[in-house]
Amino acid sequence: MKNVVLCGFMGSGKSSVGAALAALTGARFVDMDRYIEKQENKRIPAIFHEKGEGYFRQLESLAAAALSKESGQIIATGGGAVMRAENVQAFRSGGVIVLLDVPLHVVQRRLRGDRSRPLLNTRDRGRALRELYCKRLPVYRAAADLVVENRGALPVSQMAGRVWEA
Ligand code: S3P
Repeated sequence: MKNVVLCGFMGSGKSSVGAALAALTGARFVDMDRYIEKQENKRIPAIFHEKGEGYFRQLESLAAAALSKESGQIIATGGGAVMRAENVQAFRSGGVIVLLDVPLHVVQRRLRGDRSRPLLNTRDRGRALRELYCKRLPVYRAAADLVVENRGALPVSQMAGRVWEA
């Protein structure tokens, strides 16, 4: 089996749908953020805080390249992973890229009060989220082989079923 690489905005359900899809298919599940945290022995906010975003993006590219060498995995990417063309190329070489397309208002609801995403820890959080979402959406769509809508109304197991059907 090719890798199934889930991409999409923060809060789009990549990790939860990915884990459910792995349970459904028996494939190995890899959450890239957890993979990076394990390697660095640090949480994502600490990596951003201590080493900066550039360093995190390097780790992300190394992870994308390493994971893409293996097959049969469900990979939940971080929300910025497909913003680099080299990562998209690596993911596509070993798998199918699936966008979990989630409306802005669902993301806004889901991320309310969340403090684990460094990119949103700014003074005008609402604006940062809106701007990032609008900037990224076309890049996600261009990177994806398949698009599956996640309006946030279905249980994750059903969403996993939809991804698998797609
Ligand atoms: C990021 C999303 C996060 C994590 C990091 C950067 C982004 O992952 O990789 O905070 O640039 O959108 P999730 O999409 O799983 O929240």
